[in-house]
Amino acid sequence: MLTDNRGLAITCANQAALDVYEASLDDVWNYRLKAPKTLKGAFEHDPDFPMAHILRGYLLSMLESIVVRPKMLAAVEHVRAYLDESQVREQLHADALEALAQGDTRRSCECWEAILASYPHDLLALKMHHHQSFWTGQSYVIRNTVTGVYDAWDASIPGFSVVLGMMCFAFEECGDYVRAEHYGRRSLDMNGEDLWAVHAVAHVLEMQGRIEEGITLLDRDPTDWADRNPFQGHNWWHLALFALEKGDYDFALKIYDERVITSNTEFFLDIQNGSSLLKRLELLGVDVGDRWDGLVEYAERQTDDHVLSFTDLHSCMALAAAHKDEAIDRFLSSLRSFADTPDNYCASITNDIVIPMCDGIVAFEAQDYAGAVDCLWPLRERWSPIGGSHAQRDIFTQMLIEAAIKAEQFDRARTLLSQRLTVKPNSVGGWRKYADVLNAIGAGEKAKMASLRAQSIH
Ligand SMILES: [Fe+2]
Repeated sequence: MLTDNRGLAITCANQAALDVYEASLDDVWNYRLKAPKTLKGAFEHDPDFPMAHILRGYLLSMLESIVVRPKMLAAVEHVRAYLDESQVREQLHADALEALAQGDTRRSCECWEAILASYPHDLLALKMHHHQSFWTGQSYVIRNTVTGVYDAWDASIPGFSVVLGMMCFAFEECGDYVRAEHYGRRSLDMNGEDLWAVHAVAHVLEMQGRIEEGITLLDRDPTDWADRNPFQGHNWWHLALFALEKGDYDFALKIYDERVITSNTEFFLDIQNGSSLLKRLELLGVDVGDRWDGLVEYAERQTDDHVLSFTDLHSCMALAAAHKDEAIDRFLSSLRSFADTPDNYCASITNDIVIPMCDGIVAFEAQDYAGAVDCLWPLRERWSPIGGSHAQRDIFTQMLIEAAIKAEQFDRARTLLSQRLTVKPNSVGGWRKYADVLNAIGAGEKAKMASLRAQSIH
């Protein structure tokens, strides 16, 4: 039997097919646009190659759209017909892909965990687990999974830099920024163009408020990543976050127009990045013009998708910001029906978390700020199951802060801003809002100090 680049036995008709498969995996680790095209070449050498079919299904899954699920299930069927019970690792991949196509992310993760316990060098299982557990917001699961295999890895094994990038992100999401940066920089030393490692280090810098370092890391020529897939838009989004923290709103808008949202926006991350950035700009008092319109078109097309709760919430944000009342009613009705879906991760959190958060977003945009606080305040410490990173989920905290200020619930606003500025003392917008709140409660001297802090960051 053939073995792959990391020494794992793999069912494959010939070395030529395996070589192309490995090349496509290298494209995947590096977020190259051509990964699916490269993979097609493997089928020319071995049309039945099980792991190539699995990889095709995984690549489709990364579009996070309900549209691709029939093709994912077709890949599972093909693989199952070809494998026998002795090929345990590949069978588990088929089980994971099937669960993914059914929205049962928890079961997919259990399958990848079973693979990794016996085969810690299965980098595809690790990457898929990293990616999907991210969308369930389980920071410690993300960390424990990659640290659980780390002992088996070293620089002699192909793909080690990919593991280091995941170590960085895992520790960052668990708040261990020093250790995170250590692994992230090691990864970038090995491969400076690893988009995930760049992204993970950007998260460290974001969480520590290291604005200039973040801009230096990310503000590069867009053509540098011209051959990369749409994930690059998320790294540009991170660049815009640094611009916002610095108070450079024109630069943030320029990044939105030229790099975050392109004319052919169809990718799920685009609606997340776009809505989140526009809302952050609006919360800072910036007029974003008619930019919501493009996002609304996407959101209306995705009314019944519900593959990721995090996308649903950002679709709701766009619809509510543009006051598309009928579309919101259709979306919420669809969401309520979806909540009854059995064995589906997103459905399992819809009634308790997603719908109340959507209600809060809708109330906010209807200027019912007390209503928005009522919805969002009780969930503020337990909405991580919607997925995404701490930096991404921060938009909901920002909306809650604004709602509390506008509803004149200054004690709550002060509490939230105190938490925020203690952790991220380099936020211009944060200090400005804190000054407003302190003025409102009659703490004039402290308000002056907060204003000075805001000015000192420019
Ligand atoms: Fe991110």
